[in-house]
Amino acid sequence: MTTLTESAQWQTLESLAQLVKKEHMRNWFAGDENRAAEMNAEACGIYIDFSKNRVTKDVLKALFDLADERGVAQHRDAMFNGDIINNTEGRAVLHTALRNFSGQSVMVDGEDVMPEVLATLEKIEAFTHSIHSGEHKGYTGKAIKHIVAIGIGGSFLGPKIMTEALKPYQQDAVKVHFVANVDGCHITDVLAEMDHEDTLIVMSSKSFSTQETLQNTLTAKDWFLKQGGKQEDIAKHFVAVSSNVKAATEFGIAEENIFPMWDWVGGRYSLWSAIGLPISLCLGFANFKGLLEGAFAMDEHFKSAPNEQNLPVILAVLGIWYRNFFGAQSHVMLPYYHYLRGLPAYVQQLDMESNGKMVTQDGDAIGYETGPIIWGSEGTNGQHSFHQLIHQGHGVIPADFLLPLNVPNQDDTHHAMLASNCFGQAQALMQGKSFDDCYADLADKGLDEAERKRLAQHKTMPGNKPSNTILFEKLDPFTLGALVAMYEHKVFVQGVIWQLNSFDQWGVELGKVLGNQVLAGIQGNTEAETFDSSTQDLINRFKQANAP
Ligand code: F6P
Repeated sequence: MTTLTESAQWQTLESLAQLVKKEHMRNWFAGDENRAAEMNAEACGIYIDFSKNRVTKDVLKALFDLADERGVAQHRDAMFNGDIINNTEGRAVLHTALRNFSGQSVMVDGEDVMPEVLATLEKIEAFTHSIHSGEHKGYTGKAIKHIVAIGIGGSFLGPKIMTEALKPYQQDAVKVHFVANVDGCHITDVLAEMDHEDTLIVMSSKSFSTQETLQNTLTAKDWFLKQGGKQEDIAKHFVAVSSNVKAATEFGIAEENIFPMWDWVGGRYSLWSAIGLPISLCLGFANFKGLLEGAFAMDEHFKSAPNEQNLPVILAVLGIWYRNFFGAQSHVMLPYYHYLRGLPAYVQQLDMESNGKMVTQDGDAIGYETGPIIWGSEGTNGQHSFHQLIHQGHGVIPADFLLPLNVPNQDDTHHAMLASNCFGQAQALMQGKSFDDCYADLADKGLDEAERKRLAQHKTMPGNKPSNTILFEKLDPFTLGALVAMYEHKVFVQGVIWQLNSFDQWGVELGKVLGNQVLAGIQGNTEAETFDSSTQDLINRFKQANAP
């Protein structure tokens, strides 16, 4: 296979980009009333209008050709089949097996993983039921009312953001609280509100070696014992989710309280595994299963839909178009739904930890841009802050607008206003406002010519800024599962095209190692010469400030 940038499809796209950069989307819309009707796709309850993109039919065809030529379909099949596609860790990548309701087996190293997956789901269901029914009691006989879920990264963001997004589905039986950061303020504040007799700690760590999670769990254990609990009561109040059962039992978690996961589930793809236990506890098992079912439906769509209708493929190639041919450095996510406000942070880890890479799968240096910066927050708040830069700043920042068409328990006026802002922003980004229009407005206001010219320059909006508008009927568990799986597969397709391994994260490892060395330095266990002069000075200042 030729290198990416030497491929015929890449060259075609470079030529097309030169042509498209001279065009304005507002003229395309003016000249073709069918543009929106032709540039959309729908699956699993998710509708995407991608007509407000700087693409022609020729561009889309060339982008889909690139995906085909780079072997997206073959790589996709290899992932679903359990091939060892994470080649730096020697692992299969099978988060899709966790939501596989096809009844078919999924083989890893000659063994079907589905019996274990289904047994773990049953364990989650039974445990959820025992907590909600009050059958599982704390050591003094009280029913569990509060769950403190401790974990970080993929062992935190999925459960936190999915339970937040599905707030209308939360169960009354228990309240779930999340703690991730090692910053002691958080765990202290959360535990201060808890009664240890009716609190359950769910410790989630795939590796069971993450500093933050281990320390927060130790602090929680200490708190539990200081409040009056005994060592032998811990089994009723602490459970763990981990692929490292040995380390979890050595830590003191009773073996029957460990929910397993497997090394073929990547951290940022793990909400579908027992890492999702807090989701089940918060929303009920049926709703957790609903999430998995939505993701499964998206998996089936991803496997079977032609490129032109394939939601993850469409989003992926549009992202490639802007990143590699328009120099876009970031991609903004704009959920117009308060409960979905965490989605940008979720996709940020998913995308940036997966595709923030500089070598190919074979270890060759990559000479083109890969994963963009993912950022964003809920609308309409962003309109009154950072949207200014998207409208009038230099460069292209492609946007995803997301909106549920219906929302529970809300005054219609609010929702109509929310929707109108969402659509209005996408429209403003696309069409902008010309100098002449701004000039005419100022003339209507009676300003003199010099003032008209001066102000019109500032008010001109270039437009031609791309966005996708992503709609769904309502954000129920099924739709949310499909939405998250759609972004997972988008990231996967981009990783294949960029020829990188989307499933390792070596970049975060050095920071973990050095963080531990510095801790040893602060605690006085390391020779001063281990550190550069700056780090040593910082350590000294910290030690001085904290000297007894
Ligand atoms: O720091 C990055 C990371 O490795 C993520 O990929 C992962 O989700 C997170 O740490 C937590 O890891 P663990 O579940 O092993 O505690």
